[in-house]
Amino acid sequence: MKRIALLIAVSISMPALSGAQTLRQLADSRGIHFGAAVTLPTGANLAPYESTLSQQFNTSVCENAMKWQNTEGTRNVFNFTAADAIVDFTLSHGMYMRGHNFVWHSQVPGWVSNITNRDTLLAVMKNHINQLAGHYKGKIYEWDVVNEAIADGSTGFRTSFWYQRIGADFIDSAFVYAHRADPNALLVYNDYGAEGMTGSTATKSTGVYNLVSGLKTRGIPINGVGLQSHFNLNGFDTASIGANMSRIEALGLNISITELDISTSNTTANLDAQKANYKSLMTLCVHHPRCKTFITWGVNDAQSWKGAGAVALLFTGTTTITAKPAASGISEAISGVSSVWQVANGRPGVLRQSHLGRFELNGSMFDLRGRKLVALPVP
Ligand code: G3I
Repeated sequence: MKRIALLIAVSISMPALSGAQTLRQLADSRGIHFGAAVTLPTGANLAPYESTLSQQFNTSVCENAMKWQNTEGTRNVFNFTAADAIVDFTLSHGMYMRGHNFVWHSQVPGWVSNITNRDTLLAVMKNHINQLAGHYKGKIYEWDVVNEAIADGSTGFRTSFWYQRIGADFIDSAFVYAHRADPNALLVYNDYGAEGMTGSTATKSTGVYNLVSGLKTRGIPINGVGLQSHFNLNGFDTASIGANMSRIEALGLNISITELDISTSNTTANLDAQKANYKSLMTLCVHHPRCKTFITWGVNDAQSWKGAGAVALLFTGTTTITAKPAASGISEAISGVSSVWQVANGRPGVLRQSHLGRFELNGSMFDLRGRKLVALPVP
C-alpha cells in the first residue's frame, strides 16, 4: 500500500517530457553521468527541486558548497555541513556525486591567497586536498582538481596567486596530491572558453590542450578535461567542439561537460533554438566514447547563477517545475541516436549496438558483455 502511494506521488510530480522515459533513465541506458549543479533551495521550492533532481538526473555536483571558502574558511578548520547535505541526498537517491573543486583562484579565503611562501602554499594545498578528498573518499567518482588555470584568449597561464607564488607546477602537485588522497577518483582539469577550436575559444583551447598533454607526458595522474560550456545561444560551433573533443580523446583523456548552460530569452523561437543547441551538444557527447559526464550548471532557470530572468537551463519554475523544450532536446539526442558504437569485429553487415552502457579498460571501450566497441562517426 505504502509502495503504491509512493509510485503515485512520483508520477504526479514528474515534469512533462515528450518521451516515455525520464532523462535520468535515458542517461543511465547510455552510461552517461548526466547531472546538475546543486544549491538546495529553501521552503516550498525544496520538494519540487529535489524531485526533479532525483527523477531527471543521475549525478549531482555542489555549485558552491565544496569550494575552499565554504569548506576551509579558517585555516585547518573544516566545515562540510552544506556539502554533506547535498552528498547525502544524492547518494541516498542512487545517484553519483561529482566534486568541484580543489584548487581555484576564486572563492578562496584571504588567508590562502595572502600566503607568499611557495612551500607553505603547497603544504596548505596538500592539506586542503587531503581533508576534502578524504572526507568524501569513495563517494565522489570524479573531481575537478584544478579550475581555470589558463588565461583568457591565451595559451599561457593565468597569473593567479597559485601561479605567481608556486609556478606552473602547482598544477602537477595538485593532481599528485589528489591521486594520493583518493586513488580511485577520476581527476579532471576544468576550464571555460576552451570548448571549441575556432573563433574566440581557439587560442585558449590550445592552451588547455598543451597543458593536459604536458601533464600526460610527465606522467601526472590526470584522467580528463572538463569543458565548462557556459554558452549564449549563438556562441558556439558544434563541429569545432567535436574536433576539440576528438583531439582530447586522442590523448587518452575523458571529456566531461561540466557546467553547461545556454543563455537566451523567453520567446518560442529562442526556446526552440536553445533546444536545438542542447540536442546537438548531447549528440556530440553520445558520439564520443570518452564523453561520459554531461552536467548542466543548475536544475532550473530560477536558480541559475546568471541571475533573475535567466533562461539557460532545462527546467523552469520553482514551486512547480516543468521541463522546457531544451529537456526534450536532451531526450531526443540520447534516444534518437541508434548507431553510436559498433561491436568491433562483428560479422560484416551486422551492426550490434551497445544500448546498455559501456566501460573503459586500458584505453578501450567495452559494452557490458565485455565486447570491444568502436565509435561510429558523428552523422
Ligand atoms: O553565500 C553568500 C551569501 O551569504 C550572501 O548573502 C550573498 C550576497 O551576495 O552571497 C552569497 O555568496 C554567493 C555565492 O555564489 C552563493 O550564492 C557569492 O556572492 C557569489 O559570488 C557566488 O557565485 C558563484 C560563483 O561561481 C562564484 O565565482 C555562483 O553561484 C556559481 O554558480 C559560480 O560557479 C562557477 C564555477 O564554480 C566555476 N566556473 C564558472 C562558474 C560560473 O561563474
